[in-house]
Amino acid sequence: MGRLRNTSERFGAPAIALHWAMALLLPGLIASGLYMASMPDVGFDTRKIVLILYHKEVGILALALALLRLAWRVGNTLPALVETLPRWQQVSARLVHLCFYALMVALPVTGWLMSSAGGFPVSFLGLFELPDLIAPSDFRFHGLIEIHQWLGYALLALTLVHAAAALRHHFLLGDATLKKMLPGVSSQGAAFD
Ligand code: HEM
Repeated sequence: MGRLRNTSERFGAPAIALHWAMALLLPGLIASGLYMASMPDVGFDTRKIVLILYHKEVGILALALALLRLAWRVGNTLPALVETLPRWQQVSARLVHLCFYALMVALPVTGWLMSSAGGFPVSFLGLFELPDLIAPSDFRFHGLIEIHQWLGYALLALTLVHAAAALRHHFLLGDATLKKMLPGVSSQGAAFD
């Protein structure tokens, strides 16, 4: 078990758990979204409808986790970036993280707006129905599909850059960047409780 709160050296257990839960959920949502978009709309195949239902439920779960994560982020110390990092890389890293937060909220919200515009209800894990955010409108429905799709591409591109940077720091530069986001490993590399 790691420490709960973030320190200036590393992320705490809740931040790490939320980071890796979302690092699994979000690519899964992007993959299912792209697959759904490639499926035909008509026919007796109900697989697309079932997939859309799961995509929406998991998307709303991702929104709840993103809000929780945002709250944790503003209420906690932000671990410092590696000191030797050039200034432009420090600024880009922080900028990518900010874009992630914006996308983690904007993607599910545009999905929710899209469903409302299309006249389709949205529920929280099937437990209760959420209110419609806007009135039904065919024009807005199609516009929001486009926006949702492009935000998904942006998240995918940023994730690839972000993951490549993390792996480069770990395997090529050998610094503590990845270790501070891993459970039970101190920034110096030794296990701690
Ligand atoms: C959809 C996938 C991902 C998203 C949305 C994401 C998002 C973020 C965000 C917002 C931060 C800033 C810290 C925070 O406030 O929580 C962060 C930090 C970090 N992420 Fe990710 N991440 C993703 C996937 C990955 C993957 C696949 C890796 C590793 C291969 C990774 C490695 C890291 C590391 C090492 C940090 C700490 C960077 C530092 O502060 O120096 N992330 N991530």
